[in-house]
Amino acid sequence: MENEQKLIMLPGPTNVSERVMKAMLRPVINHRGDSFRELYKGILGKTQHLFQTQGSTIVFSSSGTGGVEAAVWNIIRPGDAAVVPVFGEFSGRLAETVEGAGGHALQVKSDFGKVPSLDQLREAMDSLGKFKALFLVHNETSTGVAAPYVREACKMARDHGAFAVVDAISSLGGYAIPVDDWGVDMCITGSQKCIAAPPGLALVSVSDRVKDFLKSSPPQTRYFDIPRYLEYGARGETPFTPALPLFYALDEALKELLEEGLTKRVQRHDAMSALLYDGLAAIGLKPVAEKSVRSKTVVASYYPEGVDDAMFRKLMSHDSGIVVAGGFGPFAGKVFRVGCMGQVNENFVNRTLKAVKDTLGSAKTS
Ligand SMILES: Cc1ncc(COP(=O)(O)O)c(C=O)c1O
Repeated sequence: MENEQKLIMLPGPTNVSERVMKAMLRPVINHRGDSFRELYKGILGKTQHLFQTQGSTIVFSSSGTGGVEAAVWNIIRPGDAAVVPVFGEFSGRLAETVEGAGGHALQVKSDFGKVPSLDQLREAMDSLGKFKALFLVHNETSTGVAAPYVREACKMARDHGAFAVVDAISSLGGYAIPVDDWGVDMCITGSQKCIAAPPGLALVSVSDRVKDFLKSSPPQTRYFDIPRYLEYGARGETPFTPALPLFYALDEALKELLEEGLTKRVQRHDAMSALLYDGLAAIGLKPVAEKSVRSKTVVASYYPEGVDDAMFRKLMSHDSGIVVAGGFGPFAGKVFRVGCMGQVNENFVNRTLKAVKDTLGSAKTS
């Protein structure tokens, strides 16, 4: 049946609790009224815990890509140079977004499955001397690789007088990224990943440095005009009509996150990803990522010889009720990806491992 609830082991969206789903049934209210102001102020307070910041946060009624566009279009002006480590689909898109905003993206590349080294980043930054920003994808969802040097790379960018922007869409909440402590000027995440809310919202932190810059250089975007969001946010409003049911859900999901505690949630992601990697290794599967950079929230694994990707995922879904993702770009057909996010627990992981083991044999073409 199409709408039957499956176990969603995708790298987002991920499983959402009944408590969070039910929150979306609350009444439609005036988004210029006190009840909404209270709701949104409460959400902003909770996102400050998530980002570990005393600074400003914003929730956009958009998917994660909107948050990335907001960061790029608020920071980049035509002719600006930016450093963009490119090691998969999402970091590639980020470089294109910088170019689309009229900037020049100096791409620092590595093979997929690896990350560019800090030395490569330093070399790129030094070669430019002056540049506007580093745009770093923390967790490359397309390859299951996480950059292990967010703090160091951001410091390097700031030492060059540049802004440090981190796309943590598929990692924040499963990883801790204390943005104030690590000097992250803008960090972006999405509602549908480690926060375990439904898809459709982007959460963004904004440093005082970015706010100061925007005072003298207003952005050329209306929907993602950050100064406007901050002005409205100060009184608990959004400039444009918010996706109200999703805001209710986000509030509830953030409550769940804070009830568990960020530290414990991160530890749970550590433990569940270790269980997943060990279990896949026991089945004889090889992860895409090198061990030192393998992601704790997205586990990408090569198929053994002769397994049909489409058939494997179809059987996983139909026979075991478990949804996993295929590979991206050069990995299409060769790799499957399992999300280890949000609500993930031992039961989810063990069910997934059993289903993978049972299904691999049936999905062999040779
Ligand atoms: C690292 C990363 N960046 C950007 C995106 C785009 O987010 P969305 O699909 O919510 O627009 C994703 C989505 O998976 C992602 O994983």
